[in-house]
Amino acid sequence: MCGIVGYIGHREAYPIIMKGLKRLEYRGYDSAGIALFDGNDIKLSKTKGKVSDLESRVSQEITTEGSLGIGHTRWATHGVPNDINSHPHYSNSGNLVIIHNGIIENYESLRTELTKRGYSFTSDTDTEVLVNLIEDVKKNEDTKLGKAVQIALNQVVGAYAIAVFDKTKPNEIVVARLGSPLAIGIGDDEFFVASDASPFIEYTKNAIYLEDEQMAIIRRGKDVKIRKIKSDTLVDPYVQELQINLEQIEKGGYDHFMLKEIYEQPSAIKDTYRGRLRVKSGIIKMAGIDDNLDKFLKANRIIVVACGTSWHAGLVSEYIFEDLARIPVEVEYASEFRYRNPVINKGDVVIAISQSGETADTLAAIKLAKSRGAFVFGVCNVVGSSIARETDAGAYTHAGPEIGVASTKAFTTQITVLTLIALKLAKEKGTITQSAYQSHLEELSLIPEKVETALKSDAHVQMISDIYKDARNFLYLGRGYNFPVALEGALKLKEISYIHAEGYPAAEMKHGPIALIDENMPIVVIATRKGHYDKVVSNIEEIKSRSGKIIGIVTEGDVSVKKLADHVIEVPETLESLTPLLTTIPLQLLSYHIAVMLDKNVDQPRNLAKSVTVE
Ligand code: AGP
Ligand code: GLU
Repeated sequence: MCGIVGYIGHREAYPIIMKGLKRLEYRGYDSAGIALFDGNDIKLSKTKGKVSDLESRVSQEITTEGSLGIGHTRWATHGVPNDINSHPHYSNSGNLVIIHNGIIENYESLRTELTKRGYSFTSDTDTEVLVNLIEDVKKNEDTKLGKAVQIALNQVVGAYAIAVFDKTKPNEIVVARLGSPLAIGIGDDEFFVASDASPFIEYTKNAIYLEDEQMAIIRRGKDVKIRKIKSDTLVDPYVQELQINLEQIEKGGYDHFMLKEIYEQPSAIKDTYRGRLRVKSGIIKMAGIDDNLDKFLKANRIIVVACGTSWHAGLVSEYIFEDLARIPVEVEYASEFRYRNPVINKGDVVIAISQSGETADTLAAIKLAKSRGAFVFGVCNVVGSSIARETDAGAYTHAGPEIGVASTKAFTTQITVLTLIALKLAKEKGTITQSAYQSHLEELSLIPEKVETALKSDAHVQMISDIYKDARNFLYLGRGYNFPVALEGALKLKEISYIHAEGYPAAEMKHGPIALIDENMPIVVIATRKGHYDKVVSNIEEIKSRSGKIIGIVTEGDVSVKKLADHVIEVPETLESLTPLLTTIPLQLLSYHIAVMLDKNVDQPRNLAKSVTVE
């Protein structure tokens, strides 16, 4: 989710905010906007596109006086990227303006209620619902903005970092956060708010980082009052003096975007199932599926088309869909599918998977499938992307912008969406017992914290990376659900460290690759307790008898593999079908650390593009 910037003080807000938005561009976005209070009224300008597009729009549309303002770079989640859906958003009265990062899960029910009360909406966003909820509370409770925000946010389910001001009380800005970061810069008789410190670090190094479920009322020339949203109790502000530079801020304190995005996976997975996975009620709510359920239930097969890492996520989905929903699946490289004159029947459902939503081969495969009568469903990370617009329906991964060329959080969030779909279909078709269905929902809701646990092996993985960083070839082996993970782990290593690596089904080793094994060959074997464990242990014994160096990815507490392998990396126990969400974590870290030790350009590896928009 993207970027917010705000200013209240004694200087002109416009240049500070615009420069701040430029500082936030690294986060990836699709739209930008600004609202200024010029002493009499609010001046607002916003546009789909870049901050530079906003600048030219501002120069044609509004004057830029004023020492109070808010600015926003949007990464759309609800409502395609266009001018109207861009932020800031007005309340119906025109007195309030808001900017927001995050997702309001219950925005539809709130919007319905507000519509009944006479509110109207110009955009498709969840954010516009929030600003009108605040207005409605302010009016009904006859309260100041701060109290209205506090009451309103207690009716909201979701994630947010917001900044809002009331033109009738232009000496304060109210901010709040839950699940999306928000920092307050404490200047000399001036205050800044932003998603991170990069927009204000050149003005002040004194910052307050709001914690989750906290809000702040920032009063011009006076103070910052921090309150707990739930209890409305005051909190003593903790002002810290920042010792980091701009580049470190952009990467969230990590050395590379790739590492930042590896560590974002717990929140990215949670954001992806947010509003969709309802464990208590045993419901999976996905509009794109709900509205087309008959097509999926009647489908005689599902064809997955994708490229690269997205293709690996598709291969995981083959195991999930066939195992749980008993629907035949075939996974196709989009580049092959588009040219091999494939048999596509009317009853076929095609699922196109793409992080960028702009991959040329995948887009072409979709057009071919549609031309032959198939229903095409998209799983994309970029709202309003070409693939999102070309498909008949879809479900977004809410991974947030993925900057590193090597895809990480896109992979795990794609699997999350595909798992939700497979479980929903399995439930509808009755191919899974109620208890198995419910235990899958419960376990899926625990995956973010289990990914956190898997990430704790980082230092151990780094130690292993140092031992094998000079190897010239790697083998990655896995069975069942973990075979696609072996392929993905090999791809990660190849694309950022330039070391040759191959992924194989573990049992396939004796049909050729075993000839490669000697004491110089590290073999990564995914040997978690679920899924043919004993068979994989036998494969490990075969490798050991040929002096191969074995790195085992095992379930925590494993004993057998530990006795055989040269190194083991543990991941928490989970259901077999959810194992890929955990076993991929150490493989991402292994490729990252080896590439860093080899001094490679981790975020922009040679010869690669983040989105392959040409054949
Ligand atoms: C994965 O790390 C690579 N960056 C690449 O294989 C990528 O997955 C592939 O190009 C597909 O991209 P998409 O998901 O944006 O369609
Ligand atoms: N959910 C809001 C929208 O789609 C905010 C998106 C963001 O975090 O930029 O407009």
